[in-house]
Amino acid sequence: MKNSGYLILLLALGLVFVSYKWRSSSQADPAAAVSNATIEDIMTRTSVRAYSDRSVDSMTIDTLLHAAMAAPSAGNKQPWRFVVITDKSRLKYIGENFRTMKMATGAATAVVMCGDVNATFPGEGREYWVQDVSAASENLLLAAHALGLGAVWCGIYPQTERVDKFSEMLGLPDSIVPMACICIGYPAGQQTPKDKWNPENIRYNTWEATGLR
Ligand SMILES: Cc1cc2nc3c(=O)[nH]c(=O)nc-3n(C[C@H](O)[C@H](O)[C@H](O)COP(=O)(O)O)c2cc1C
Repeated sequence: MKNSGYLILLLALGLVFVSYKWRSSSQADPAAAVSNATIEDIMTRTSVRAYSDRSVDSMTIDTLLHAAMAAPSAGNKQPWRFVVITDKSRLKYIGENFRTMKMATGAATAVVMCGDVNATFPGEGREYWVQDVSAASENLLLAAHALGLGAVWCGIYPQTERVDKFSEMLGLPDSIVPMACICIGYPAGQQTPKDKWNPENIRYNTWEATGLR
């Protein structure tokens, strides 16, 4: 075989090797094989509970609230309501009075994600407010991460004691239910996102048919 023949054979083998590598890496971790800013933000978001002293300006808070209100909503009812807490003494109160929200003391701000139970469906559809406010909460967390902020979702609803204490503290009317308190600030230090990928959580077409796409 001439030199050019060897070269073509070598190139062909190289191509086969590269395409094999690409296929196996994309099967193992499809998210890593796609270069996309949104996917990157989703995969690198993690709960942040330690913050620097840097404050969060009102335009940034507005952006977070815009992102929250862009969430999907059952029947497009948009029953979400938000109480933004910027007052340091209130953040400290939350940090000192709720066992799982100690980080609030050091946060620059917090957003209490609420639902207006009069603004959603009547009857059994009423509970859709929780899904709507949850979708808004995840949007807010992702927007915060995309803007270089760190945030953590702290659950309030359905724990009656927390709901009552937040309602009293914020002077909420009966129809407004606090669902979560999202503490926000610029992160102090580096965070490592958790790898939660687990194929065993997935079924295709029916529960029994494992491994079939
Ligand atoms: C409904 C809900 C309630 C949560 N409540 C708290 C909380 O009260 N305090 C807290 O520190 N983290 C809370 N978290 C955050 C979880 O601990 C966190 O999302 C989980 O450990 C996974 O970590 P990651 O967000 O870094 O992926 C809550 C998350 C959800 C979705």
